[in-house]
Amino acid sequence: MTAPLTIAVTGGAGQIGYQLLFRIAAGDMLGTDQPVRLRILEVPQAMAALEGVVMELQDAAFPLLASVDTTADASVAFEGADHALLVGARPRAKGMERSDLLAANGAIFAAQGRAIQEGASDRIRITVTGNPANTNALIAAAAAPDIPRERFSALTRLDHNRAIAQLAAKTGAPVADVRRMIVWGNHSATQVPDITHATIGGQPAVDLVEREWVKHEFVPTVANRGAAIIEARGASSAASAAAATIDHVRDWARGTAEGDWTSMSVISRGEYGVPEGLVSSFPVTTADGDWTIVEGLELDPDVEAQLRASVAELDDERMQVRALGLLG
Ligand code: NAD
Ligand code: LMR
Repeated sequence: MTAPLTIAVTGGAGQIGYQLLFRIAAGDMLGTDQPVRLRILEVPQAMAALEGVVMELQDAAFPLLASVDTTADASVAFEGADHALLVGARPRAKGMERSDLLAANGAIFAAQGRAIQEGASDRIRITVTGNPANTNALIAAAAAPDIPRERFSALTRLDHNRAIAQLAAKTGAPVADVRRMIVWGNHSATQVPDITHATIGGQPAVDLVEREWVKHEFVPTVANRGAAIIEARGASSAASAAAATIDHVRDWARGTAEGDWTSMSVISRGEYGVPEGLVSSFPVTTADGDWTIVEGLELDPDVEAQLRASVAELDDERMQVRALGLLG
């Protein structure tokens, strides 16, 4: 039997945690041949609720679940961790933008970045789901200068999945037929869902839908989906966010499908004019725990203009957190 991998998850008593932990334990993330040890970090006041989640994890009798430990101490949570899923943070409420959370959540990610550097396994891969996810990943990476920047990522897979679902619904195609979707930029309302390289059942997506629909319906629907869910549910997306976190880590660890790619927010080295050092969403292929940005794609003029605006927002967020002293 393969040795268990240690998966640290923060915010385990929260909404996303309640979905995510069970899917990890079931083998949906790292495979049905890979045992896991769960290490769950919460704030002290959520520990009682977390104990209930642990009871349920036990009651599910997952064959792959080697152990579950809970702690309110980040250095215990990340000790020896192979994957760190940074979910725990305050979600936005109605009327807020994700960037409104910068000050509230930024300090959490600096402290966790430091703890990851101190104790995590040298295989560590970090996925930030807690908002504002891109800039939180930047903060965590800045607090852990000894860990290669490439190990830090933020979740734009939910936006990618939303984009696939909207395009599939519009064309009547199964979601599995949609390939090469891209989401560029920030996980925010400025994000850039881009179908110009996508195919549906092998045909170019741009031949199957009208440009007006893309501009006036598709892009705004995908970019504002998080707010629409908050409006409808009175709480931010949780099951779909957990599913996207699973997809993100699974593809990172196990690889993207031949001929396809996914969208991940990763550290820019200047690709597509995104300033070096920003954590931005790009099309990536993955293999064996490494990602590679798909280079050489021609940018449609609308996509290019929107990407510049999204990157300007990321740059502005970086300036704000620098002013808060969160970039070291
Ligand atoms: P939630 O409020 O239900 O749960 C958050 C949990 O995090 C709480 O249990 C809280 O006690 C815990 N927490 C807070 N600070 C912590 C810390 N320092 N250490 C450990 N745990 C801590 O929220 P949720 O709905 O689960 O959402 C979590 C985060 O994910 C929010 O920031 C939300 O905006 C974000 N989110 C991101 C995406 C995405 O696509 N990137 C999608 C949905 C939600
Ligand atoms: C989402 O996209 O659903 C999350 O980022 C939650 C939010 O604040 O929109």
